[in-house]
Amino acid sequence: VPADAETQSIARPAFDFFEGYMVTSVLASFEIGGFLEVLVSDGLDPRSGRAGEDAALLEAALRYLARRGLVEETGGVFELTGFGRVVCEDKGYLVWLGGGYSEPLRHLANFLRGEMQYGVDRTRDGRWVAAGAALLGRQDVVPEALELLAEASFARVLDLGCGNARFLISVCDRFDADGVGVDLSPGACDAAAEAIDAANMGERVEVVLGDATDLDSIPHLGQTELVIAFFLLHEISSQSRDTLITYLSDLASRLPAGASLLTAEVEPAGEGSGTQPFTPEFDFVHAMMKQSLLPEQEWRSAFAESGFEVTNVVRPAMPGGLLLLARKSG
Ligand SMILES: C[S@@+](CC[C@H](N)C(=O)[O-])C[C@H]1O[C@@H](n2cnc3c(N)ncnc32)[C@H](O)[C@@H]1O
Repeated sequence: VPADAETQSIARPAFDFFEGYMVTSVLASFEIGGFLEVLVSDGLDPRSGRAGEDAALLEAALRYLARRGLVEETGGVFELTGFGRVVCEDKGYLVWLGGGYSEPLRHLANFLRGEMQYGVDRTRDGRWVAAGAALLGRQDVVPEALELLAEASFARVLDLGCGNARFLISVCDRFDADGVGVDLSPGACDAAAEAIDAANMGERVEVVLGDATDLDSIPHLGQTELVIAFFLLHEISSQSRDTLITYLSDLASRLPAGASLLTAEVEPAGEGSGTQPFTPEFDFVHAMMKQSLLPEQEWRSAFAESGFEVTNVVRPAMPGGLLLLARKSG
């Protein structure tokens, strides 16, 4: 906490959570509303916004962030402080939680009482789950993942649960490959299509709105030398271990000899390198969705049973994160 923030040290930790909730809400909304980019690059002057914006509310939000030491004002323009820059480097985590899960979390009481069901009455916001994952991944997963991929050789890539396709686009660009992304969320697929257009990669990268578990519907599997599955397989393993093994075995049988599989997952809180920041919350959000996370050993054994031999395991900067690179055996 910066020395100049209006924060008193008091033995009432509830207020730390209170503050964290509000800062998360404001920063996630700034990112979603397109304000954070301007704040980071040029500073924000609430009086010179676009027509229709609520300048008074924007100024109130900036003054709030100033009280919490994240921004400072000079002549009506608000800029991030050093502390604010450090916080905003991790904005992906805040967007993932605040943008992706605030709606179902608001109904947690109803889920607890059995009056509503996650996935039936309320679900997460796919676009912002995907955007948050891509933002946090860019910094905390992608650098290590790209290094791992330098070991593999491939000309065709499939990204299962590709989200907004940012990673798929960078892999295809960097390794000169063609790619297909599959995602179940229309919001994520819309964002992926926009990102492919913006990167001018329409000739090489295609996104399909669909279910990654329906392997019959996925094009070019027989020529796919690299499969990426980032933060997807726990959705399948949560149905049952058998479902995961059946799925991975079917995938392996359709891929060419020597194909690689690169997965990213988060270990459950308390596993691997222990309880860290973020993992208890990640774990709980998944419990709300009736999903559970697996530790490294269980991924390894499920892969081995399904016809994939794990060749490299890396722990990226993401707290609790796990990257496994595997190769189709035999
Ligand atoms: C946490 S996001 C990760 C997105 C992306 N892989 C990344 O790392 O940035 C998980 C994605 O998997 C997608 N997903 C979940 N189940 C799926 C399924 N059965 N088929 C296709 N996509 C699925 C979700 O819609 C979501 O976009």
